[in-house]
Amino acid sequence: MSRTVYVNGEYLPEEQAKISVFDRGFLFADAVYEVTTVVGGKLIDFPAHMARLKRSLGELEMKPAVEESELLNIHRKLVKENELTNGLIYLQLTRGAADRDFHYPDPDTPSSLVLFTQVKDPIENAMVKRGAKVITVEDLRWGRRDIKTVQLLYPSMAKMAAQKAGVDDAWFEEDGFINEGTSNNAWIVTADNTIVTRNLSTSILHGITRASVLKCAELLQLKIEERPFTLEEAKAAREAFITSATIFVCPVVDINGTPIGEGKPGSVTAKLREIYIEESLKAAV
Ligand code: PDD
Repeated sequence: MSRTVYVNGEYLPEEQAKISVFDRGFLFADAVYEVTTVVGGKLIDFPAHMARLKRSLGELEMKPAVEESELLNIHRKLVKENELTNGLIYLQLTRGAADRDFHYPDPDTPSSLVLFTQVKDPIENAMVKRGAKVITVEDLRWGRRDIKTVQLLYPSMAKMAAQKAGVDDAWFEEDGFINEGTSNNAWIVTADNTIVTRNLSTSILHGITRASVLKCAELLQLKIEERPFTLEEAKAAREAFITSATIFVCPVVDINGTPIGEGKPGSVTAKLREIYIEESLKAAV
């Protein structure tokens, strides 16, 4: 079935949805994006995704294409038009189309806004059941990873390195510390049951799921430390896991060939996943 896609004010069949070859998203990766998960036809963590989009735009002096309230209408219309029950909505906003020039174009240049749906079940997932295996790779991304831009070539290369190594994903390592996964935030549970994830900075994306899972950890009265952790600490951890909008909370059972804990999904991770799903469904819009 052909999807209905949103492009600059129009809802079109995907075959007819087009963007200019001069679009700066295409030429310079001058664009930001968000991925919002849909469960049971409802949007998970929607206000937080829109708040992060606004922040990304502000950091890049980029204009929003439409009012924030209109974004909710567009998301809802796409869910309806595409009869989406479980999946995601991808939103991309670029600085618009202009003659190729490294300088930003005239500020009156209209931004381009594209949204589309994709079917993907975040709840029933084989990797969550068996736990993910990861390798570490050097973090060679640019220094503003807190801005959710579409420059994703290095994360793609890291995913391919993981695939070639016969594992599921890669974690980015820098100066001996783990920053995050290719498309997720990285966490460990230490021997004394403390939940550790890297503190917010320009080194990592400020994950929306990360923020919600921290609240869940508080609800469970778990000890939390937001700080950098090393690869050695991760290998010695009791449990490890990743979080993102598309996988929610997923156990990590092996890092660089070393089994984590008992080498199978752990109970703290399972509890956090359960509470996250429960809480986020309650708040879904
Ligand atoms: N990726 N870190 C990176 C580098 C990411 O790309 C993502 C999300 C996250 C998790 O953020 P959130 O919890 O807000 O999804 C962390 C999305 C899912 C993607 O690129 O498809």
